[in-house]
Amino acid sequence: MQTAVYAGTFDPFTNGHRDIVERASKLFERVHVAIAESTSKRPLFDADERVALTKQALKAFGEGVVVEKFNGLLVNYVASVGADVIIRGLRAVSDYEYEYQIAAMNRELAPKIETVFLMASQQHSFINSTIVKEVARFGGDVSSLVPENIGKRLKDAFQGQ
Ligand code: COA
Repeated sequence: MQTAVYAGTFDPFTNGHRDIVERASKLFERVHVAIAESTSKRPLFDADERVALTKQALKAFGEGVVVEKFNGLLVNYVASVGADVIIRGLRAVSDYEYEYQIAAMNRELAPKIETVFLMASQQHSFINSTIVKEVARFGGDVSSLVPENIGKRLKDAFQGQ
């Protein structure tokens, strides 16, 4: 178990996601942060920008952390990079049912791929990308919620609105 994939929409990548990457990078030699290109969420940033912003935010991790976009089924991406583990972060009990469904479906599709859940630190347990965008949209301070470069980009995105 040397390569793990941490997938999501990451619109934008937050300090909560970063916390999960940090934990995962201590357990696995290589962590692929896989950014879903087509998503029903109508993202604020397109996939290429989400990749660029996330890459910059994770620069300090070096070569062990790879950031890429993917399309189609997650299990196919996982197999294509030679990984056999999917990482998911759990923040609260309310995440459980949704995560259970995804993990069960992925197991159905690819029984050899295991989903590993990491518990987000308490400090980040209330963050999600929607809340971050909402606060930034109304000019609130998101500097403690997202990496610095992403905070700047959010400010630019909503300036003048
Ligand atoms: N810290 C902060 N926020 C977190 C978090 C953490 N540790 N963990 C999750 N979140 C937030 C996310 O920001 C997101 O919030 P948002 O809805 O406000 O954006 C929410 O919790 C859950 O999103 P995320 O964890 O990014 O997952 P997702 O639902 O956006 O992405 C995919 C799920 C992309 C992995 C999944 O849809 C997928 O695999 N798609 C490919 C198609 C496929 O294979 N489908 C079959 C499998 S079901």
